[in-house]
Amino acid sequence: MVIKSPLKSNVRILLLGDRGVGKTSIILSLVSEEFPENVPTRAEEITIPADVTPEQVPTNIVDYSSVDQNEDTLNSLVKGASVVCIVYAVDNDDSIDRISSYWLPLVKQNSLDKCCPIVLVGNKIDLVDYSTIDGILQMMEDFPEIETCIECSAKTLKNISEMFYYAQKAVLHPTSPIYSVEDGD
Ligand code: GTP
Ligand code: MG
Repeated sequence: MVIKSPLKSNVRILLLGDRGVGKTSIILSLVSEEFPENVPTRAEEITIPADVTPEQVPTNIVDYSSVDQNEDTLNSLVKGASVVCIVYAVDNDDSIDRISSYWLPLVKQNSLDKCCPIVLVGNKIDLVDYSTIDGILQMMEDFPEIETCIECSAKTLKNISEMFYYAQKAVLHPTSPIYSVEDGD
């Protein structure tokens, strides 16, 4: 029996989601540890050295924006990702509907044999006094490639570092089987 180890030299986290849900704000909040009032459309790719990540693996964080990136670029970003975070805004039902109608199929289409892990991220919880997690858990039953979900706020920084930790963990310790049994050596 050969246990295939998921040893990774690097984790590439891609943030997708509708316009205005807060992808760039989340990334820049993580980096600067404060909420940036004015953000560019897209953050530059960020590399986090292994020794400052919880799992000790060098991690790249990649932003996407439909404003300055076309569909071909989007498809190649998905192909190069080790994990995709689909961000929605908890106060925007359309952004939640589009997870299953647009973003999940897009990620699946760009996957080879196996879909890369997906983390659903509900941003802007500072704006509401309810949780969207019940509906999201239902979606997770229909789409097994969704590894986990988390609600956060780029504005208050709540769950921002946790969100990236979940994304790392989805790559390094997926809940789906990582071993296979092989004959011979
Ligand atoms: P695109 O690049 O256009 O796809 O948008 P984006 O997903 O990168 O969103 P962006 O970070 O530009 O944020 C959009 C707006 O939402 C900005 O006005 C942010 O200040 C605001 N915003 C982002 N995160 C939060 C949050 O957690 N809480 C609140 N209240 N506002 C937020
Ligand atoms: Mg942006």
